[in-house]
Amino acid sequence: MPPVKGIILAGGTGSRLHPLTVAFSKQLLPVYDKPMIYYPLSTLMLGGIREFLVITTPTDAPMFRKVLGDGAELGLDITYAQQWQPAGIADALRIGADFIGTGPVSLILGDNIFSSPNLPGLLTGSLAEADGATLFGHTVPDPRPYGVAEKDAAGRLIGLEEKPAQPRGSEIVTGLYVYSGDVVDVVRDITPSARGELEITDVNRAYLAQGRARIHSLDSGTRWLDAGTYDGLLDAAAFVRAEEQRGVRLGCLEEIALNLGYIDADTCYALGSKHQKSGYGRYVMAISGKTD
Ligand code: G1P
Repeated sequence: MPPVKGIILAGGTGSRLHPLTVAFSKQLLPVYDKPMIYYPLSTLMLGGIREFLVITTPTDAPMFRKVLGDGAELGLDITYAQQWQPAGIADALRIGADFIGTGPVSLILGDNIFSSPNLPGLLTGSLAEADGATLFGHTVPDPRPYGVAEKDAAGRLIGLEEKPAQPRGSEIVTGLYVYSGDVVDVVRDITPSARGELEITDVNRAYLAQGRARIHSLDSGTRWLDAGTYDGLLDAAAFVRAEEQRGVRLGCLEEIALNLGYIDADTCYALGSKHQKSGYGRYVMAISGKTD
């Protein structure tokens, strides 16, 4: 099987968060104790992905490099590409065409935060069997601001609508997608929307029309947050803090790398000690099991 790859879309203007994001990238804003991008990166790591392409704006690229580097310290391979202007989520798959190669690939939006017991297994399995599009659904009280899935009585995906005024279901399509390598060709055939963007829902609909799209529902223990709004950002920080207070550390890249065997205890301790004056750094040092 070819290596599985991950794309994190961290471009855009963050206009829903203005003026917070006038001078600063949305995906580097703090979510309690970490930059936002740690969370989507951790989600893809938990799905077994080690090769990443981070797509940023040209202005923000140096700051992302400062935060994540080339990933080698964590046993990852992180490269960067730039999106010169916001051109839709599916534009990430066009920019990432060479990186994707023959696939499979998972794309995640840099403002989507997941805490879901069944997601790592679903993601790993979906990447291993990638054919067409695999989506991950989550039920929310008000689906109107999102992509919404329509399912038949047997739970099969039969329709997708982007931000419908009258949704035909309450399960939304989260910003995490798995595709087979032919997604590059599918994106090439998509017509930009009225606002000139390549819409991810159009890509997913193209696969649905071919009978090659499915949706996995995240289980009831799932917390999913779109941190790209004022309330979402604050809710995400509060959730991360509450989890930490009960001993669950979300988005700790060093911990995931240690658990997956990408780094050893000495490296984990050394990485933590770089931030030893912060609670995050001390946590990373502690989980290494080392004392000095
Ligand atoms: C995008 C997608 C939408 C999806 C959402 C998840 O919307 O277009 O289908 O449900 O991400 O966060 P946006 O956040 O760009 O409005």
